[in-house]
Amino acid sequence: MTTALHTSSLTSLPLLARGKVRDNYAVGEDRILMVASDRISAFDVIMGEPIPGKGVLLTQMALFWFDKLTGICPNHLTGDAPESVVTEAEKAQIKGRSMLVKRLKPIPIEAVVRGYLAGSGWKEYQQSQSVCGVPLPAGLSNAARLPEPIYTPAAKAEMGEHDENISFEKTVEIVGDELAAQIRDISIALYKKAAMFAQTKGMIIADTKFEFGLDENGTLTLMDEVLTPDSSRYWPVEGYEAAFRAGQNPPSYDKQFVRDWLEQVRINGQPWDKTPPAPRLPREVIEKTAAKYQEALERLKA
Ligand SMILES: Nc1ncnc2c1ncn2[C@@H]1O[C@H](COP(=O)(O)OP(=O)(O)OP(=O)(O)O)[C@@H](O)[C@H]1O
Ligand SMILES: [Mg+2]
Repeated sequence: MTTALHTSSLTSLPLLARGKVRDNYAVGEDRILMVASDRISAFDVIMGEPIPGKGVLLTQMALFWFDKLTGICPNHLTGDAPESVVTEAEKAQIKGRSMLVKRLKPIPIEAVVRGYLAGSGWKEYQQSQSVCGVPLPAGLSNAARLPEPIYTPAAKAEMGEHDENISFEKTVEIVGDELAAQIRDISIALYKKAAMFAQTKGMIIADTKFEFGLDENGTLTLMDEVLTPDSSRYWPVEGYEAAFRAGQNPPSYDKQFVRDWLEQVRINGQPWDKTPPAPRLPREVIEKTAAKYQEALERLKA
């Protein structure tokens, strides 16, 4: 395994932005080199310790899904090798963890699709029997499968802020009715196809988030990462049933170990207030998390 990369440091390309996970570099005017680091964020705070192998995993998983999902909507991949735009000395840093993509005009909507009731969806349902204005049947419990997948968009938050659930009408205000409907319909189609495939590998995709941008011709294009454990809630089918019956959250392939640990940690006797700096992650939490990410990709590719 390559050494863990918390923050990339390419000097041959201008840095556009560092996200919570990805470092984006400009390649000319029209392309971006997206480097997935091994950073992990929880409760929207970036941890100080990297998760070795995570960036490579996320990238390999996104590439796997881009390939599986061709035909529904164009995506941002250029097909050019990421190694071709950096110096010899920089190749090791980006190997396996980068995508060379078209630079798009990002649409400020997180296109969330849910097939199951979990997380903020479950919270909202308990208060209003609906999620993002989508009415749902009464009597659903935590982690219940929905009769049909629903589209529950969110507004993309600024760095350090939490995304905010919004109604479909609100997305119409942001991008107009034609584009809003197109984003919704494509997102649901992508989710359905992915969920059906994952099911054959013994995995449930409870929910996921897509991001879109417009290319130079104004064509709606799928961008960012797709269907990674960072952008999606994956549950192993075998763990799902038991947890669902017991009224518990099904085990997931993501940051659950980190979140659980952060929820119980005490700093001078006090719980962590979920603002930076994050407490130091113990080695065991790091290792278990790395193994979970690995397992998700292995199951998909099996
Ligand atoms: N083809 C593209 N053109 C332009 N911007 C893109 C493209 N693909 C992805 N992006 C943007 O690049 C950034 C990727 O970085 P990263 O995922 O770390 O960001 P983040 O959104 O801050 O974190 P998180 O995903 O954890 O919320 C995002 O802001 C995403 O919208
Ligand atoms: Mg992101």
